[in-house]
Amino acid sequence: MTEDFDVKLVEHAKYYRPAAEYKNNSWIGDYKKAYDRFQKDPELFWSGIAKDLEWIRPWDTVLDWNYPYAKWFVNAKLNITANCLDRHVKSDRRNKAALIWRGEDGAERVYTYQQLLTEVMRFANGLKKLGVQKGDRVCIYMPMIPEQVIAMLACARIGAVHSVVFAGFGMTALNMRITDAEAKIVITSDISIRRGKAIPLITIVQEAIDNAPSVEHVIIHRRRKDQPVTIRADFELDFYGIMEDVPAICEPEVMDAEDPLFILYTSGSTGTPKGVLHTCAGYMVGTYYTSKYVFDLKERDIYWCTADPGWITGHSYIVYGPLAVGATVFLSELTPDYPDAGIWWKLIEEQRINVFYTAPTAIRTFMKLGEVWPNKYDLSSLRVIGSVGEPLNPEAFEWYYKVIGKDRCPIVDTWWQTETGMQMITTMIGEPMRPGFAGKAIPGVEVDVVDKDGTSVRPGTGGFLVVKKPWPAMLRTVYKNDERYRKYWETIKGCYAAGDLAVKGKDGNIMVIGRADDIIIVAGHNIGTAEVESALVSHHAVAESAVIGKPDTLKGNLIKAFVILRVGNTPSDKLTSDLIYHVRVTLGPIAVPHEIEYVDKLPKTRSGKIMRRVLKAKELGIDPGDISTLDE
Ligand code: WTA
Repeated sequence: MTEDFDVKLVEHAKYYRPAAEYKNNSWIGDYKKAYDRFQKDPELFWSGIAKDLEWIRPWDTVLDWNYPYAKWFVNAKLNITANCLDRHVKSDRRNKAALIWRGEDGAERVYTYQQLLTEVMRFANGLKKLGVQKGDRVCIYMPMIPEQVIAMLACARIGAVHSVVFAGFGMTALNMRITDAEAKIVITSDISIRRGKAIPLITIVQEAIDNAPSVEHVIIHRRRKDQPVTIRADFELDFYGIMEDVPAICEPEVMDAEDPLFILYTSGSTGTPKGVLHTCAGYMVGTYYTSKYVFDLKERDIYWCTADPGWITGHSYIVYGPLAVGATVFLSELTPDYPDAGIWWKLIEEQRINVFYTAPTAIRTFMKLGEVWPNKYDLSSLRVIGSVGEPLNPEAFEWYYKVIGKDRCPIVDTWWQTETGMQMITTMIGEPMRPGFAGKAIPGVEVDVVDKDGTSVRPGTGGFLVVKKPWPAMLRTVYKNDERYRKYWETIKGCYAAGDLAVKGKDGNIMVIGRADDIIIVAGHNIGTAEVESALVSHHAVAESAVIGKPDTLKGNLIKAFVILRVGNTPSDKLTSDLIYHVRVTLGPIAVPHEIEYVDKLPKTRSGKIMRRVLKAKELGIDPGDISTLDE
C-alpha cells in the first residue's frame, strides 16, 4: 500500500500558513509548547482544564488506568447540565442566546441560557413524573429541532441515559437500538421535515416498539397542526403535555464522574450495532476543551455545526461541548440543497456565523455545483471553518479554503470517532495546514501509525491509526458487550486501534485514508456491510448477499450489493426496486444500495467467510492481493 500513498505525499507537499492574526490565537498558544506541557505531565494538563468547570465534589485522582479500563476524575461528583446551563445562568451569560434554531419553513426560535434551562428543567420533571430514574435508558428519535436538544439535556439533568437514534434510521434499526438498550421511554416527533416534505416518524416508532417490551411510554412532540396524531392515553404522551403541572425547578442529579451519560449506537463489523457508552466527567472535560481550543470559540461567536444532534458530532459539538463553553449555537433543519444550493451560505450571511463545522461530502457537493452559490453571499463573518467525518481530500480542502474561507480562515480538519467522544487529531489554529492531512494529535492526546504488531511505522509510510494513551472522553465500554470493548485495546498490543488506515508524513502530520474493516462511510455516515447484508437477506427472495463500498467523488463511497436469489426468484428491475425499498424501510435511507448485482456465487474462504476484498478488487479492476484462502 505504500506506493500508492507516496504519490499523494509528493503531490500535496504544500502548506497553507495562517495569517498573522491567527498565530498564538488561543490559550493553547504555541502548539509545540502546549504539547510538551501535556507530555511532561498528562494528568496535570487535564486537571488544569477540568478546573475551569464546576464540580459538586472534586476528584481524588485524575486518572486510574487499569488497562484497558480507565476512570477519569475519580470520585468527583458533577452534573454536565449544571455546566452547560446553570453555570452560565449564574453569570453574565444568562441572557445570551444559547440556541438559535431555523426550521425548514423559515421559522426561527431563540433560546437564551435561562430559557433553555427552564425548558430542560420542566421536561426533566415531566420525565420524573413518569417514573424515569437515574440510570434508566431513554431513546430519542427526533428531527433537528430544539426539543431534541431539550430532551437530551433533560435526561442528563436527572441522570437518565439517553440513546439518540438519528431520525433517518428505519424501523428495524430503531427496534434493535431500543431493545438492546432496553429503553423505558421513546421520545419522538410526529414528523420530520425534509426538502419541504413531511416524513412521518411516529408510524416508524409505532412499528419499532411492537417487539420492544421495555417501552413503557412514547412521548410525542406534535409539529403537525392540521392533522395532529392521536394519542393513546397513558401509553402515548404529549411532549409539552408532560411539562404541565410540574415544578419549575429541577435540581441537577448528583452524578459520579464515571456514571453513564449516554449510549450512542455505531456500526460495527457484525450485523448488530455497538452501543458506545460515554460517562459524565471525562466526556464533559474532553468536549469542553476541544470546543474551546480546537474551534477557538470566542465569547461573541455564533457557531454552526451542520451535523444532526443524533450523531456523535452533534452530541459533542452541537450540544455538550459548545454549551459547556457558553457559546451561541446555531441549529438548522435545512438540507444544503433546499430550497436551493445557496441556502447554507445565505444562513451564514444572515446569522453572521463565525465558526462553521461541516462534512467533506457537503463540501464536495458544493464544489460540483460551483462557486456561484457561495459567491452570492457575504461570508466575511467566518473566522474558522472545520471538517469532520471522512478524509478531506486536497482538492476539497483547497476549494473550502479558497471559496468559503477566502484564503484567510484556518481549516480544522478534525479526525475522531463516536468511540473517542472528542476530537483527537487536527491542525490547531495558528499551525501550518497541509491539505490531505488531518494534522497532529491535539495536546492531551497521543496517536501513532503502527504496523499490526504495534511498531511505529517509518515516517512517510502507512499503517493502522492508534491512540497510545487513555483520554478523558474515551468510550468506557460497549453496552452489554464488554468483550467488544476490549477488542479495541487488544487488536494491536498496547494501544487503542481506531480501525482506520493512515499515513504518517515526515513532518508528523497524519493523513487518514479510510476504514481498515468492514465499515463503509457513505456521505460521512458509518454503515456496516453486515447490517446491509442482513437487511437484504431478511427479504424473502434473497438467499445470500455481500456488500462493498465503491469510491465515489461526492459521497466518499457508494454501497454496492451482490445478491444470490433463492430458487424460484428471477432478477428484474421490479425486484431491484423492491429490495431497495426493503432496505430503506428496515435500515433507513442512508443505507440503501446504489447498485444491486445478481450473482450465482460469492467468493468465500474455505471456512465460508465472504471475501468482500475480492469482490471489491474485481469491481474496481485492481489486484485482489492474497487469495490463497479463496475456496474454488
Ligand atoms: C472517519 C465521526 C478522515 C474515520 C466523528 C473514523 C475521518 C470514522 C475524519 C468515525 C477525518 C472521521 N478524516 N476520516 N477528519 N473524521 N473520520 O464514529 O474513518 O461517525 O474512524 O465519528 O469516520 O465515524 P463516526
